[in-house]
Amino acid sequence: MSTQIHDRLLIIDFGSQVTQLIARRLRELSVYCEIHPFQNVDETFIKNFAPKAVILSGGPASVFDENAPRAPQALFEMGLPILGICYGQQVMMHQLGGTVERGHGTAEFGRAFVTPKDDKLSILDGWFSEGIEQVWMSHGDHVSKLAEGFDVYGTSPNAPFAITADLSRNFFAVQFHPEVHHTPNGAKLYENFVKLAGFTGDWTMGAYREQAIADIRAQVGDAKVICGLSGGVDSSVAAVLIYEAIGEQLTCVFVDHGLLREGEAEEVVTMFRDHYKMPLIHAEEQELFLGELDGQSDPEAKRKIIGRLFIEVFDKHAKSVGGAKFLAQGTLYPDVIESVSFSGGPSVTIKSHHNVGGLPEKMGLKLVEPLRELFKDEVRALGRELGLPASFVGRHPFPGPGLAIRCPGKITREKLDILRKADAVYIDQIRKHGLYDKIWQAFVAILPVRTVGVMGDARTYDYACALRAVNSVDGMTADYYPFTHEFLGETATRIINEVEGINRVTYDITSKPPGTIEWE
Ligand code: XMP
Repeated sequence: MSTQIHDRLLIIDFGSQVTQLIARRLRELSVYCEIHPFQNVDETFIKNFAPKAVILSGGPASVFDENAPRAPQALFEMGLPILGICYGQQVMMHQLGGTVERGHGTAEFGRAFVTPKDDKLSILDGWFSEGIEQVWMSHGDHVSKLAEGFDVYGTSPNAPFAITADLSRNFFAVQFHPEVHHTPNGAKLYENFVKLAGFTGDWTMGAYREQAIADIRAQVGDAKVICGLSGGVDSSVAAVLIYEAIGEQLTCVFVDHGLLREGEAEEVVTMFRDHYKMPLIHAEEQELFLGELDGQSDPEAKRKIIGRLFIEVFDKHAKSVGGAKFLAQGTLYPDVIESVSFSGGPSVTIKSHHNVGGLPEKMGLKLVEPLRELFKDEVRALGRELGLPASFVGRHPFPGPGLAIRCPGKITREKLDILRKADAVYIDQIRKHGLYDKIWQAFVAILPVRTVGVMGDARTYDYACALRAVNSVDGMTADYYPFTHEFLGETATRIINEVEGINRVTYDITSKPPGTIEWE
């Protein structure tokens, strides 16, 4: 755990689908928080963490379940302000001597309306200006008898104890989810809660930068670190931050696997070697990667080959810099949360993301992950704080396996060249129309089909391609971007006219789910 230079809030996670949103709301209030699954949290953990307040999340369990999740009983004796949400409310009541009842016709899912009761509550400042508040409920069980010291401050038709509090102890417990969009005034409730708990809103990128630098120095000592630099936002920000912390102990390894976009290698090398003057190895391994990918058409086989070769290349350079002990990665908070999910059960592998897990263990390197507490937009803010140019900070995500997963079927150099050109035209179109920053990710995939066309009275028999553009918050779900027909028509014409080898352009309007963002 890192040294503490700002106020901290602990979220004990009981496995709700929306726990991450609590963290989002708090980060928006410049409050530092961490989510930890209830299994990992005991009295000692809380004491070491030293939070200024605690939030108990919702979750799918029932307090009646065998081995139902609990908060450490000692938590309630620590004098900390606590906010319990949904299951968090139930578990609080249950552990403090109240009663929870099974659903039996009183379950509530979706929109509900809460009306105030008795006195006004400080954490509800700004609520009930119109008499009622819309909230989002999602519960089967409900509290039927309050624990001692609690009073009711709001009720809904099926949750007589929708808002409850024990003011003498600063314990608050609500049945609904204030963190979701469908509780329009929910953010205000969090704001009031953290104000009451004495948070000063000191979670700024400046503070983060300072702390991250101190942590990196403490972790690494005088050892050497290599950083896999892809030129994407995450690895770029991680590299600049680590360079600021340990200077020339860091060597960045930029792997050119022959699956990069047009101009990408030059851009990254110029930026980091010439501008930032960082030690950078430009590993030109096109032959290695394209050679091993030759003839492969299965998406997972391609991903596995690329993942393995990345390890080989990093391994080679960890040795070539004189024995690196650490590997730096741009792992983000959402990746961390997923990997400690409540269920802990094996989830289905949709795609093997090559850069998540596996790599350092096989290489015997320890990890430096200075962004593992940040959301994507916070990484961008940190990038700006570190002085990275807007063109880098605002870049669309680009996957580690690169164009390999945008070239379904067998990969050939010819197809990659065509794809690079088409992608460059498409992105140019998007920029010219001022859309780049409005879109989360956009790219072209070259399809493994050739179609017949006619150009200048001659027959053509060339590849078809698909344009993809999506909006998303975190890449977990996505919807296609609603370009105008004019834009699509103009772009198709440009691609067909300017890119030899493509004679048909389609637009992919699949959302995720059921599709994924990339084609493989
Ligand atoms: P999918 O295709 O799974 O992609 O919907 C979600 C997001 O992840 C990116 N992606 C990857 N990023 N290594 C990465 O660094 C990978 O192996 C990988 N596969 C997909 C994808 O571009 C999208 O932003």
